[in-house]
Amino acid sequence: MKDRLIKPDFAFNYKKNEFCVEGIPLSKLADRYGSPLYVYSGAAIRESYSRLSAALRGLPVQICYAVKANSNLSILELFKKLGAGCDLVSYGEWYRAELAGMPRKLRVLSGVAKTAEEFDQLLQLPNAGVGSIHVESVMEFELIHLLAHYRKKKVTVAFRYNPNVDAKTHDKISTGRKKDKFGITREEILDLCVNFSHDEFVHIAGISIHIGSQITNTAPYAKAFAILSKLCDEVEEYLGRDLDYVDLGGGIGVSYREQDTTISLKEYAALVKKYFHSSQRKMKKILLEPGRSLIANAGALVSEVVYSKERGSHRTLILDAGMNDLMRPALYEAYHEIVSIKKEADIKRVKWDVVGGICESTDYFARSRPLQVEGLPGERIAILSAGAYGFSMSNSYNTRPQLAEVLVDRGKVKLIRKRQTLQELVALEK
Ligand code: LLP
Repeated sequence: MKDRLIKPDFAFNYKKNEFCVEGIPLSKLADRYGSPLYVYSGAAIRESYSRLSAALRGLPVQICYAVKANSNLSILELFKKLGAGCDLVSYGEWYRAELAGMPRKLRVLSGVAKTAEEFDQLLQLPNAGVGSIHVESVMEFELIHLLAHYRKKKVTVAFRYNPNVDAKTHDKISTGRKKDKFGITREEILDLCVNFSHDEFVHIAGISIHIGSQITNTAPYAKAFAILSKLCDEVEEYLGRDLDYVDLGGGIGVSYREQDTTISLKEYAALVKKYFHSSQRKMKKILLEPGRSLIANAGALVSEVVYSKERGSHRTLILDAGMNDLMRPALYEAYHEIVSIKKEADIKRVKWDVVGGICESTDYFARSRPLQVEGLPGERIAILSAGAYGFSMSNSYNTRPQLAEVLVDRGKVKLIRKRQTLQELVALEK
């Protein structure tokens, strides 16, 4: 069993000086599908999935892929084939899961702002078209209760608990502290259990947590699992029966650079076992909601140099991709490896600022990054680890059409999203 997740170079690496995905030169793909271009590796997705599942073997775990990380329909289909369910955060994502044919029973629906209209749509379907709805506030529970009784439809819910644990990650991707907007408190959960334990239509099935993203050591998980396991005891006492499941959320961090260390999957699995599948507490089912860990290092963004500027020793590389295509560096100062897609030994490695063309001073992919590029128009580079929260967070700011996406899988190249045209971009406007 491989104890760590894959690194950026698992499927993306040089072959005879050409940077390739699964052996196919990225330059070929960019010639064919244009630039900028998102490229994904099926092999990397499969490997990530199988490493995580292997680590958890023997535990009653169901992986529910967090669709927000990368919600392309072909990617969802691939996860479905691997046996994944899904974690959804909106009716829109639910619709994608429906189109991709992901089993309804294996869908959980989270999100702090699910609306009455959305619930009304869902309640037309058996069990609201999902395995379970993760309730994030008392008001949301009351609304579900009201609608379920009004429509006389059964629905399964779990509480998204806010355990007040600091995931020790970037402030902007922490979700499990008291001050964060997510989830509901212990007191609120116990109150609802007292009042609704034997409801005719709303079945309380479990508790979920998600404390944050890009978590690189297991200590915050250990803390959160201990608190959650205690709450499970209390809830079961209040309900007078066992819970059907716990959902431990996502958050496992990945290596954005070769030297980054992150969570040992063995250690993570041991914690899951200790708190939720030991002699003290044996849950019937344990859900996980990984997003990034399954797909970040399975994707790259290929981009072309438009211009470069040299002012003394200060060099700026201007790309055709911008922060609208990949927001992570601009939004979280996130580090993404950048490589030239043709290796030329005689080009000196020097420091570059790497920027996009958006009219925002934060539109930087990297600052002072040593790169082996010449800075000539048409020269191509690849921004790595862009499979998660890359395209799914992209937008058309500055009226730039959204990019094409390509999936390379088992030797086949598939265009899984066409490049948006300008006509499509303005089509809904009057
Ligand atoms: N479950 C829930 C309820 C979530 O909110 C999230 C992510 C996940 C699961 C998946 O977490 P993951 O395994 O991917 O860490 N845009 C940010 C990340 C935001 C994460 C939002 N929630 C980034 O690019 O770093």
